[in-house]
Amino acid sequence: MSQITNPRELFLHELGDILYVERALANEVLPKLISEVQDTEFKEALEQHLEQTRGHMANLKQVFEELGEAPHAEQCIGFDGLKAEHDKLVEESSPELIDSVDLGAAARTENYEIAAYEGLRRMAKAMGEDRAVDLLDTNLKEEKEALRLVEKISTRVSNESAKALA
Ligand SMILES: [Fe+2]
Ligand SMILES: [Fe+2]
Repeated sequence: MSQITNPRELFLHELGDILYVERALANEVLPKLISEVQDTEFKEALEQHLEQTRGHMANLKQVFEELGEAPHAEQCIGFDGLKAEHDKLVEESSPELIDSVDLGAAARTENYEIAAYEGLRRMAKAMGEDRAVDLLDTNLKEEKEALRLVEKISTRVSNESAKALA
């Protein structure tokens, strides 16, 4: 039997999914990436994004409250898959390639978050939840900026490692 039977319940479930993602990023994944990367610009970008991610969690909790609901996370299997893929690739790769592995993982995660926030934003807009739309927009904007920065660093690191191999 269906447990999610209307758009509001679907919205709340997906909001819980992205809260799970932000929480895992803040508590576990970003600190791990910060400790394993070598490139200074990438390390600083991850540190800055860790700060932003704590803000994303706070904004999501506020969205729950705007809807009169207690904040709660839902296990996000999609993100668990991204994380498992990353961990496996780190194990399989030589140390000088870890920055490239982590840049790829960061780009995938940002794209995942962007898709989630765009969907949530559309649903909030359709429900007339304007305050929730603004909060989701704040997160979405920072994810897009983070993705652009990761792509820029990724281009430089790819060029540098291709040159080192030439
Ligand atoms: Fe985020
Ligand atoms: Fe992010």
